[in-house]
Amino acid sequence: MNKEGLCLNYEFALIGYPIKHSLSPWIHERFLQQTELAGSYSIIEIDPEESFQKAVDKLKQSSLNGFNITVPYKEKIMPYLDEIDDQAKQIGAVNTVLCKDGKWVGYNTDGMGYMRALLNKYPEIANNKEQAILLLGAGGAAKGILYALLHHGYENITIANRSLERAHELARANDRIKVVSLEEAETGLASFQLVIQTSSVGMKPYETEQIISLEKINQEAVVSDIVYQPLLTSLLKEAKAYGAKIHFGHSMLLYQAQYAFEIWTKKKPDMTSLDKQLKLELEG
Ligand code: ATR
Repeated sequence: MNKEGLCLNYEFALIGYPIKHSLSPWIHERFLQQTELAGSYSIIEIDPEESFQKAVDKLKQSSLNGFNITVPYKEKIMPYLDEIDDQAKQIGAVNTVLCKDGKWVGYNTDGMGYMRALLNKYPEIANNKEQAILLLGAGGAAKGILYALLHHGYENITIANRSLERAHELARANDRIKVVSLEEAETGLASFQLVIQTSSVGMKPYETEQIISLEKINQEAVVSDIVYQPLLTSLLKEAKAYGAKIHFGHSMLLYQAQYAFEIWTKKKPDMTSLDKQLKLELEG
């Protein structure tokens, strides 16, 4: 540690499987450079065939200052943590761990990162907490975003999902949340000001797929897709064609990382140029 309480050589990592193609090292290495902190961000793949307990024991012996956890271990890591932040507890999944004074503290930066990304691009969304929001999908990603929306004071939320049972389960988070089918979401689309697509539909190699048609979209609406491969998904293409505003998925990736980096180092990297760089990287 130096005089400001900063570590002299940060060690971060990503735990998950498969993660060889993860963009997290790329992002965090740029954060380290930009904040002029010395350190590294490595990849630790844990094959699901291996013992998770053994892998955790090894991690406990390491000198990591913090790590991210991704699929399939976001829930599995929880019993090994000394403390869990309230939002991560509500979501039931952890994607960031701070290792401090021999203790592991768990956080979930996905949803909050998503909100930061969205409000950064469309700050006016913060002015109307009563706007009608349509959440497409009811999986793990939807859950993180839903809790972040509620945390920010948005409650006029409708969840549409292929499996209605899963949508109803998620809707238990707040009395005001409504549930509709994907077909009903399509026909009633004009009443929503913000549409957030949280499923994997439209992701490479199925880039022509679209979870719903946007024929009835309100031109004033913002359509946000968390899929970032391709960057311009079929859904966003259609939204653009109808004159709606669009929000790309790669920014969630960037801002959840920024949140994690802040938890680890208390430094907040500037995102302006990184956003453009990541876009270029993704466009190949
Ligand atoms: P994640 O953690 O990435 O959110 P997940 O928990 O498996 O992944 O959730 C995937 C979401 O995508 C779910 O909402 C799923 O709908 P179901 O709950 O009905 O399965 C949705 N999804 C995946 N493929 C879909 C498809 N072809 N059409 C509609 N929805 C789909």
